Amino acid sequence: MKKPLHALTALTLTLAVSAYADNSKAPSHGIDYPAGWQDWTTIAVSHRTDNKTIRSILGNDIAQKAARAGQVNPWPDGAILGKVVWKDSTLTDWPTANAPGEFVHAEFMFKDAEKYASTGGWGWARWVGLEQQPFDKGTQVCTSCHTPVKNRDWVFTDPARFPE
Ligand code: HEC
Repeated sequence: MKKPLHALTALTLTLAVSAYADNSKAPSHGIDYPAGWQDWTTIAVSHRTDNKTIRSILGNDIAQKAARAGQVNPWPDGAILGKVVWKDSTLTDWPTANAPGEFVHAEFMFKDAEKYASTGGWGWARWVGLEQQPFDKGTQVCTSCHTPVKNRDWVFTDPARFPE
């Protein structure tokens, strides 16, 4: 019985120490891998019918609070938005329900108006596949496609409504 408890304590300590950057993954666009994003809360979901993918839009604590309070233009410094993408699949027992299939990538926008002033106030990073290989083709790829929503602080997503 003692062993699992010790293992858990060690894990908790490790997580506490590395709360922000996970250095086991290489950086993307010079940005460290955000540790623990798998536990972040939902800001919204989306389904792209053009390229048949399902997306979960996640936020860290700061992003979640801002989203719930409607303070999203601009988003506050420290907010991180994540988008996790899976290929479309369907539920085995209810085929008209679209559901997440193969994992594609996870990508993130890190808000820091001063640090990232030259790229719209956001740092842009992506990690591809379940191995989470860093994408390094340049932030320009991201910002050029997000330019149409420049006046919404570069963010497409409308936070979903949740009961209080
Ligand atoms: C081809 C256009 C395109 C490119 C390239 C692109 N995005 Fe997006 N991005 C979108 C669209 C459209 C949405 C909203 C719809 C959705 O849920 O996918 C979005 C949503 C996001 C979101 C959720 C917040 C929001 O704006 O709604 C994040 C985070 C994000 N993108 C990060 C990135 C990063 C990082 C890159 C570059 C590695 C990137 N994007 C490249 C089109 C693009």
